[in-house]
Amino acid sequence: MIHIAVLGYGTVGSGVVEVINTNHSSINKKAGEEINIKYVLDLRDFEGDPIQEKIVHDFNIILNDPEVKIVVEVMGGLEPAYTYTKQCLLAGKSVCTSNKELVAKHGAELLELAKERNINYLFEASCGGGIPIIRPLNSSLTADEIDEIAGILNGTTNYMLTKMATEGREYDDVLKEAQEKGYAERNPAADVEGYDACRKIAILSSLAFGRQVDFEDIYTEGITNITAADFKYAREMGKAIKLLGFSKKAGESFYAMVAPVLVDPTDPLYSVNGVFNAIFVHGNVLGDAMFYGRGAGKLPTASAVVSDVIDEAKHLHRSIMAFWSSHKLELTDISNSQRSFFVRAAGSLEEERARVEEIFGSVHFIRIPELEGEFGFTTGIMTEAEYAVRAERLGSVISRIRIRSI
Ligand code: HSE
Repeated sequence: MIHIAVLGYGTVGSGVVEVINTNHSSINKKAGEEINIKYVLDLRDFEGDPIQEKIVHDFNIILNDPEVKIVVEVMGGLEPAYTYTKQCLLAGKSVCTSNKELVAKHGAELLELAKERNINYLFEASCGGGIPIIRPLNSSLTADEIDEIAGILNGTTNYMLTKMATEGREYDDVLKEAQEKGYAERNPAADVEGYDACRKIAILSSLAFGRQVDFEDIYTEGITNITAADFKYAREMGKAIKLLGFSKKAGESFYAMVAPVLVDPTDPLYSVNGVFNAIFVHGNVLGDAMFYGRGAGKLPTASAVVSDVIDEAKHLHRSIMAFWSSHKLELTDISNSQRSFFVRAAGSLEEERARVEEIFGSVHFIRIPELEGEFGFTTGIMTEAEYAVRAERLGSVISRIRIRSI
């Protein structure tokens, strides 16, 4: 029997207990031994709930129990999760987590601690919820040099953008609905400002490129400025607007970004709708691969956490995770990255056509009759820096959205 402890009986923690109870016989078979939840750490009591007999309020009971070999950290946030995780690893207990803030910030150090002790720190649920992506990057795509990762990494914003696209509604309206449905938090900043996607692309990039990508270095733009009018243009162009987290090799360096991006129907990310997530990976030998599924929610996330418990049970004394070096990967400034842009400009297309073409060269104009006093155009490929200079010269830009090229 392998004894485990769960830190936190919130949405994911209770999901972990539910998954282990629901699928106990197949999970035990796959783990090679019976998995027993010995403790659940939470501040609260759960009177009348069968979990009550396992609830402890003191972390030291778990830390000092030599029978506990695996600890599931599903508390979220940096502290006390960081301190508890470190103490568990130092005590020789494997840890698995869904905590993207912690993995993005301290993943390199925690992986190294685990490796030194021949135990494991696994975090399949930290990116893409229930979608297997960490394990494939760690153990399946190992023959490749990964040169690009691009993902729809946030379910809440993808739900909101899908609603705006299909129902023509405004941002504030769909945010309110997402909050009512429990997808978006009361304070939605982590999702809508792109911070959540930023941490996830930092983790995926660190793992794929083998060195620490600091999330603080990643240019991050959320969806708060996307409007129903933007979707009118997108529909006219036959494109979708998606919040993407992406990182890419450019020459000998890498850049990373989170931003709303216009995506073509030929792009596999185009049809990823609602709360679903997808992660597109390009390897120099494999070519393209895409991983798709439920990126959030109690049971999909718990499914990924429990898959880590099983892996840790199977490898109690062997480190299976490729660790990324704590040496920082210096990202290049996005100003040299190249792409085309969709621009909305104020004024009359008849009067501005020549000036736009003089500044931006050959462009494709789009006019939406009901949007008076403005017009749109898509540019050719140019660097971010070149775009900024030209937009400044035009002086009448209402907004711009990047266009993804595949
Ligand atoms: N708020 C996140 C999302 C939860 O909407 O994707 C999963 O990390």
